[in-house]
Amino acid sequence: MNFQHRHVLGIKQFNATELNFILDTAESFKEINTRKIKKVPTLRGKTIINLFFEASTRTRTSFEIAGKRLSADTVNISGSSSSVVKGETLEDTARNIEAMHPDIIVMRHGASGAADYLAKRMSCAVVNAGDGTHEHPSQALLDSFTIRQHKGKIAGLKVAIVGDITHSRVVRSNIDCLNKLGADVWLSGPKTMLPPGIERLGCKLAPSLAAAITDADVVMMLRIQRERQGKTLIPSLREYSRYFGLNEFNLKLARPDAIVMHPGPMNRGVEISSAVADGPQNVILDQVENGVAVRMALLYLAAGGENLVED
Ligand code: CP
Repeated sequence: MNFQHRHVLGIKQFNATELNFILDTAESFKEINTRKIKKVPTLRGKTIINLFFEASTRTRTSFEIAGKRLSADTVNISGSSSSVVKGETLEDTARNIEAMHPDIIVMRHGASGAADYLAKRMSCAVVNAGDGTHEHPSQALLDSFTIRQHKGKIAGLKVAIVGDITHSRVVRSNIDCLNKLGADVWLSGPKTMLPPGIERLGCKLAPSLAAAITDADVVMMLRIQRERQGKTLIPSLREYSRYFGLNEFNLKLARPDAIVMHPGPMNRGVEISSAVADGPQNVILDQVENGVAVRMALLYLAAGGENLVED
């Protein structure tokens, strides 16, 4: 397949065929991560800059590892150690970085739309590593990859996503991705964390956590994003946990072979109990492992994919 996209800005830009192509490409890279020598020359001579204006453990590390395993030169810049703290604008920062001729900029930013903004102004490829509450495409892709790995398919599965829907970029990318791949997506969360009209994205709203997870094939728990909330949206964490926390008792409502997912970072004892987070149905570290293969695929495709030329 001829991949026609220069940037990876969001799931919204891809159709089902392209999403499956990205997942298949990631499948072909996955095995490299278990070799004794975990390196192939695919992106030799390419420069990738990871520009992170928000905290990250999984996304930043796995984009860096992905680039290194493909032999690219990777450079990490964090917002707090960049000249942004001296008042430089995003556009000026990006223009200065571009003057050093990177091939790909991977960016995480707190503002929704920041990756699109950058892509319009850069001649290199831009990969969105999370922008505000808008999109987190690589997370949704690694989630679909993990579901496919464990269930053998995505179409027809009931996927329940529970938690702070309003402030989650993960959920927006996942609703779009899972929908396009044919899943039946259900959401649940406190009313104060459910944006009006979210069903228009192609999901169903469950009246309770129990309704969302009953007979679910996949249960995906989300963190309360207190750093994005302007005011307190729940009476207490204890109450939140009681009504929207997943534990070994309410998990029995899901299908016996249901898998439990979480994008991380987890708040144990709030949205998920340790018994479930470490229990037999969790695939949380598989998500992290698969993140490297999925990001290898995205970097490879953003660099030109099959049209990559060595010069
Ligand atoms: N899932 C995710 O984006 O994790 P990080 O914030 O650690 O990158």
